[in-house]
Amino acid sequence: MIENKLIDKKVVVLYGGLSAEREVSLKSGKNIADSLSLYYSFIRLVDVSHTLVDDLLEIKPDICVIALHGTYGEDGTLQGLLETLRIPYTGSGVAASAICFDKLLTKMLLIGSGINTPRFVLAERNMVEAPFYPCVVKPSRQGSSVGVHIVEDSIGFLEALKDAFKYDNNVLIEEFVSGEEVTIPIMDEEIFSPILIKPKKGFYDYDNKYLEGMTEYLLDTSLPQNILDELDLIALNIYKVIGCRSMARIDFIIRESEIYCIEINTLPGMTSTSLVPKSVAKSGIGFAELCFKIANSASLDNK
Ligand SMILES: Nc1ncnc2c1ncn2[C@@H]1O[C@H](COP(=O)(O)OP(=O)(O)O)[C@@H](O)[C@H]1O
Ligand SMILES: [Mg+2]
Repeated sequence: MIENKLIDKKVVVLYGGLSAEREVSLKSGKNIADSLSLYYSFIRLVDVSHTLVDDLLEIKPDICVIALHGTYGEDGTLQGLLETLRIPYTGSGVAASAICFDKLLTKMLLIGSGINTPRFVLAERNMVEAPFYPCVVKPSRQGSSVGVHIVEDSIGFLEALKDAFKYDNNVLIEEFVSGEEVTIPIMDEEIFSPILIKPKKGFYDYDNKYLEGMTEYLLDTSLPQNILDELDLIALNIYKVIGCRSMARIDFIIRESEIYCIEINTLPGMTSTSLVPKSVAKSGIGFAELCFKIANSASLDNK
């Protein structure tokens, strides 16, 4: 904390927006803005709408903190706008945001870099059978487990395919990996504690993500040290290969001693109960300090 003297910068927190996760974003935006007011002299919350450009041109912020989750704000388009307006922003840049938002692109990059990810095929709308079972059918560009189905047989496959295609024209059929689900936050190449995600029932679907008490989160993962060391190396490698910046959270499934990367989140949830704040707290960093670190990481692709 800076004693009394606030940093003389105009900070805009972008929140709300139009995605399904609007309510979560409104909450986390307010929390972030409250925390940042301990550090900066000027904080303004801006609810992202079609007036965004006018709002930004009027306020002329020094930095934008992006507190949006899900479809809007995470796919590189907002990042492109902020690049054009020359306003440094938090999270990854245009290309890394777009790649991580698109699971097909993410997997192609991971495979091209020799990083393990569940094998997959791209689905065709007229398929009647999956190439392997059990499998996971998922839209390439979605989040919050929306349209994600674990499929055991051809009946389930047809239903899953129909649903997944509602959300995107690209649908992946992925090998189902049965193992321990682990997520790791990384901030400018600093790795934080992994968190083991244990839904009490089923897989980590929408309800298990957002309903209180449905999933156990363990900071003491009880994974062997050699796996934890390897996880750190792989996570850092992924962060670098994709060119992430600022805070990102990488999700894995570990089956026996094999580590599979599932996806990368470039704007992870930031409510006080989200996973990233839980993980960094283990390093003695509280929520307000984490918000400050994130705001401080704001930058542009083209400096
Ligand atoms: N290949 C897989 N094997 C086993 N479980 C998976 C696999 N892919 C996804 N899942 C489960 O589905 C959840 C959501 O899938 P994910 O690919 O992370 O999509 P989203 O972007 O919607 O979170 C994961 O957190 C995990 O529990
Ligand atoms: Mg996920």
